[in-house]
Amino acid sequence: MEVSTINSTIKFDRYKPLSDEECQARIIDAKKKLGKHAVILGHHYQRADVYRHADLTGDSLGLSKLASRTDADFIVFCGVHFMAEVADILSKPEQTAILPDMGAGCSMADMANLAKVERAWREIGEVLDPDEMITPVTYINSAADLKAFCGEHGGIVCTSTNARQILQWAFARRQKALFFPDQHLGRWTGYLLDIPLSEMLVWDPDLPMGGLTPQQIKMAKILLWKGHCSVHQMFQAQHILRWRQQHPGGMVISHPECNFEVCKLSDYVGSTDYILKTITSSGPGTRWLVGTELNLVNRIAEEQKPQGKVVQFMAPTVCMCSTMARIDPQHLLWTLENLVEGKVVNPIRVPAREAELARIALDRMLAVS
Ligand code: 13P
Ligand code: SF4
Repeated sequence: MEVSTINSTIKFDRYKPLSDEECQARIIDAKKKLGKHAVILGHHYQRADVYRHADLTGDSLGLSKLASRTDADFIVFCGVHFMAEVADILSKPEQTAILPDMGAGCSMADMANLAKVERAWREIGEVLDPDEMITPVTYINSAADLKAFCGEHGGIVCTSTNARQILQWAFARRQKALFFPDQHLGRWTGYLLDIPLSEMLVWDPDLPMGGLTPQQIKMAKILLWKGHCSVHQMFQAQHILRWRQQHPGGMVISHPECNFEVCKLSDYVGSTDYILKTITSSGPGTRWLVGTELNLVNRIAEEQKPQGKVVQFMAPTVCMCSTMARIDPQHLLWTLENLVEGKVVNPIRVPAREAELARIALDRMLAVS
């Protein structure tokens, strides 16, 4: 297919006023015209009016594997920026990953950046040799340059599905781990590996030496970056305790980005895909309280209703991944119709050297999981 690249949001303006209904019909039409040249990947948190157009869906691990296997020329990623970067890194050079709205970032990923991680590495280096003693582990929810940092320093990427195996991999190589950017996933995973809470210390990147003493750095098994997900922080232990009083036979399932107390009080903890599969495979008439993003919870609730399952959202307020929701039918249509005309909007291209190093850390992860 002959293509040219445009990166202009001005061109989007004529799509803005389109109704959702009109977009739906035109998306279907554009998809037909593109055929196997384009594949649409959709994360579980994607809004329903976009999710329905996804050819393949999954959690972060599943989607990265799918991106590495597809033969489509264009990988249209209905997710967030770091996911499209992973698709670009793992796909073939002649393929193009596209993010329909460049504003679809991840607030957690933004809580760590290369300058801060390099500073942490230098500061830790005043106490011990990090390249000898510490495996850097980045959650997939991070920018490509942080994955590259891990690739360069003997480190690895993890997702919410494989964090446990990845930390085991890390400890088989070096005594300690620096885990960024999600302290909650790091703490929960360390807990599953029987690491005492007192040996998992928070590294605050905005304080000198992460706010720790040299002694604390020496004794810590895991240094947990002070980052979190703005959506999952809304779920609280009290929500579970109150619900259990009303529904003593019900089951609670949460994403490991939730805080430690929430994970501890939950019957099940796992990735978005794990949550979906666990509830789907449960018996008819079961009742669930779910601690993860609202679009996914609503979708599961709707799908499971015919089997008499009741699926409830954990927080009393609406918690959606507002950045992922920026990928709306209008942006998806804009992307697809431009592709039909041979124009690529919002391509995601990770610089070659960064991609090469990030790929090392991603390949280590894929080999482990
Ligand atoms: P999953 O890998 O479980 O899909 O999680 C991605 C994410 O961003 C959760 O907030
Ligand atoms: Fe990032 Fe949280 Fe959205 Fe997941 S739910 S993509 S961690 S902001």
